[in-house]
Parts: sequence; C-alpha cells; structure tokens
Amino acid sequence: MPSIEFLSDNKKIDAEQGESILQAALRAGISHTHVCGGKARCTTCRVLIIDDTDGHLSPRCDREKLLADKFGFSSNIRLACQAKVTGDVKTRRLVIDDEDVDITLLNITEEGESFSSTGIEKSVAILFADIRDFTSFSEIQLPYDVIHMLNRYFYRMRQIIEHNHGEIFNYMGDGLLALFDADDCNVSKANSVGAALQMLDSMDKMQSYLERTYGQSLEIGIGIHAGDVVIGSIDDACNDKKMVIGDSVNFASRVESENKRLGSRLLVSESVYESLKDKLETGLTCSTELKGKQGRHGLYEVLSLDTDK
Ligand code: FES
Repeated sequence: MPSIEFLSDNKKIDAEQGESILQAALRAGISHTHVCGGKARCTTCRVLIIDDTDGHLSPRCDREKLLADKFGFSSNIRLACQAKVTGDVKTRRLVIDDEDVDITLLNITEEGESFSSTGIEKSVAILFADIRDFTSFSEIQLPYDVIHMLNRYFYRMRQIIEHNHGEIFNYMGDGLLALFDADDCNVSKANSVGAALQMLDSMDKMQSYLERTYGQSLEIGIGIHAGDVVIGSIDDACNDKKMVIGDSVNFASRVESENKRLGSRLLVSESVYESLKDKLETGLTCSTELKGKQGRHGLYEVLSLDTDK
C-alpha cells in the first residue's frame, strides 16, 4: 500500500492504489484545502513534491497542465486533487490557512499575471549595480536634487538594460538588480555584460552633467553572476511586485561589493567568465573568499566584450 508523508504536518498516511493525494489526506483527517472541491479549478490544493524519485505519481492531466502552464508551476508543484499515488511519496502542503487561500484565489482571478505567488525557477544572469559614495553625495545635496539625479540615472540605466533584453527587478536606494533571461544561458550572460559596459560608458558621459549641476562626480560598481533563481510575485490588491530569490542573487551581490575592495568597476563571477572568456578583455583577476559563501571564488574584471568572436 502506498504511503504519503506530509512533512510540515508530521504525518505519514496510507493511500489506496490510484487514490489522489487530496482524497487520501481528507480520509486521514488532514484539513487539506480544496476550494473547488477537487475539480482542478482553484489550485488551493497545491503541494510541493519533496520526494518522488521513483515516479509514483500520475502525470499531469490536461486540466492540471493548463493551470500549471498558466501559473508557471515547476514540475514539483502538483495539484493534490489530480496527482494519484501508486507508491511512496513525500510532500508538503502549500496552502495552509485562510490567508494562503485568499492570496491563491487573488492570483487566479487576476488576468495577465506573469509570475505566480508560488514562483518560477529560471536560469538567468544577474546584474547588481551600485553608486559609489552615494551616502556622502546625498548628505551634501538637497533631497530634491538627490531624487532628480537618481531619476536621471535610473532612466538611463533602464534604457540600456532593456535594450540588452534585461529587466530591472528591484531598486534598492541607489542600487538596482536586473535579470537577463534568454533561452540560451550564454546569450543571457553576454547580454548582461554588454549592458554593464554600456552602463559604465553612459555613467562616464554623465560626469560633466554631474560636475556642472552638483559639483561632484559619481562612479558605479557592477557585479554579474549567473545561476538559478526563483521569481515570484508578492502581491496584494494594490500592488504587483515581482521578487527574485536564490543563492545566486546573494552571490551576485557579493561580487558587486568586491569592486570596492579591488578598485574595479565591473566584476563577473567564474560562471560568467568561463562562458564568455573568448570574447572578453579582462583586467584584474583574483581568487577570493566572499562574505557568507564557502571556499574561494574566481572574480574577473571585464574591460570589453567582443560579440563578433
Ligand atoms: S481542489 Fe481545486 S484544484 Fe485541486
């Protein structure tokens, strides 16, 4: 007889052959949410499959496929009302209480949603940019001038990033986080490095304006890493804010921070360098420890990119 282990409920239950996870859970007294009554219409019964290495779950039926595509569910997110068990599996319920139900139903009723609250896993190039000595700039200048300058700076950077097929996901004070996502990961990496070099060039061109208007110049530092992230929306009735999470994001941020120590402007991680090394002109290279990361990591200062190679 197959068993289903519900990890956060600390329960292991028996299931009949071919029974759905939802049916087995309800029979065992687990209050598994199922707003549409198991008809594959609400997704509130969604579960994360922690372990099904031996393939003990039925494949997605057409209705489940439709919802999974619409909400970008990765293969390990299943509808408990549709996933039938033929052997042992480990799982975790994702919609636990009324608040989860509200959020789930809000997402399902909104048109045009591109990322679900569950999240989509993607392999992307991640670019962090940060203005050097921004604190001292903002201490000297009037707040209105600071906002005006930031608007001008972000406007320029956004144009460049979008021109290179990237998207800004987050502004953090004077910093920004952009993702580059293409079918071919090497293309994402090349796009991100191309954008970074153009951002530096644009910043150089902005210096005379900064000197003239504020009596100060400003530099930026950029760090790029590539890897897997999960993109989701944190969503309420008023806002739809995309959010990107993953160890790769933290890593890219650490790469960017190293510019200060090394006196460089654009650093890329080993994974970016290895894919593009034939096209890159590099300056400084080093192997260093990064805060919060184990081991030593190769960093490469990029001076130019030859996309024709
Ligand atoms: S209970 Fe609604 S989709 Fe499963």
